[in-house]
Amino acid sequence: MRLVSVVGARPQFVKLAPIAKAATAAGVDHVIVHTGQHYDPMLSDVFFQDLGIPAPDSHLGVGSGTHGAQTGQMLAALDDVFAQWRPDWVLVYGDTNSTIAATLSAVKMHLPVAHLEAGLRSFNRRMPEEHNRVLADHAADLLLAPTRVAVDHLAAEGLASRTVLVGDVMTDVLLEVAGAAAGSPLERVAPPDHYVATIHRAENTDDPRRLRLIAETLAQLDKPVVLLAHPRVVARAAEAGVTLTQGTLIAHAPLAYPDLIAAVRASAGVITDSGGLQKEAFLLRVPCTTVRTETEWVETVELGWNTLATSPAEIAASVTRPRPADTDATPYGDGHAAERVIRELLAR
Ligand code: UD1
Repeated sequence: MRLVSVVGARPQFVKLAPIAKAATAAGVDHVIVHTGQHYDPMLSDVFFQDLGIPAPDSHLGVGSGTHGAQTGQMLAALDDVFAQWRPDWVLVYGDTNSTIAATLSAVKMHLPVAHLEAGLRSFNRRMPEEHNRVLADHAADLLLAPTRVAVDHLAAEGLASRTVLVGDVMTDVLLEVAGAAAGSPLERVAPPDHYVATIHRAENTDDPRRLRLIAETLAQLDKPVVLLAHPRVVARAAEAGVTLTQGTLIAHAPLAYPDLIAAVRASAGVITDSGGLQKEAFLLRVPCTTVRTETEWVETVELGWNTLATSPAEIAASVTRPRPADTDATPYGDGHAAERVIRELLAR
């Protein structure tokens, strides 16, 4: 079987790592196509190096742009790439512009498409990711769902017959990396008792007033906050004249994955709008505050380890809440999701 994985953005490289490993173990001919959506070494290359992912077989070099320009360039380039590799399956990951471009290109070439992390919903139609994931699910032939909630969403949309519950591949990679992780790299930049923050989503960065309010709020919390600043927030803050190092807030470059896991594990709490980090915090049993109006990872909230701060004014109360009750719940699987993904693809 020839499997072509199409990836392009940071969280997709993390998900690719266990898939690449499971594909190799099963003797699958696995081709990696990198769209180039993320190109900064700290958003791309370090993940391939640290997580032992083979170098991409094709690189589209698309880079940044408006949604239409970025997605359109990927679409135009992928026709030739799929014609070259002639896959038995195309595997698309998550909810980025790379996901929707690869899905559309593949289905129009009559190539079977499997969507990893299918069925997640925020029900917030202002999020570009919500459109990407809904459209990918409805176009794909096989929907690889990470959770029971995702399975239920797909059933509600009439997609049950194409759905399989496989678990979450981010659990696979986290369990492996956490076992080997060393001390936090942030010990050098902040006192031991600090929060780790990431803010990068359009809804938090593109409105200068909201971005300013978030930065000012983080700058007045009860402990230092190390903001692992994605290039998007750095760019938007510079345009809006918002200072990312002020008061208790310390801006820091993004971290490689093993360093991020070590930093989160050593922290007093996480403040984020990232999907992946909400789950990583939960799996490491670190309290999380999510600066969004909703989350796709509702299990983290139901179990008490994640709280939504729907406005910046709610962040301070959330980060100082009492530590949640311990739980042995495993809503994100057992660490063997990638093996199940490969088995499902081989079985079809
Ligand atoms: C994308 C995904 C988002 C995901 C995030 C993870 C979409 C619609 N969004 O958002 O779901 O959570 O990746 O990081 O696909 N930039 C750089 N260097 C890079 C990449 C981006 O400087 O390597 C800057 C550019 O100014 C660019 C901006 O970040 O315009 C946004 O990048 P883009 O790829 O459009 O979306 P993300 O915000 O990274």
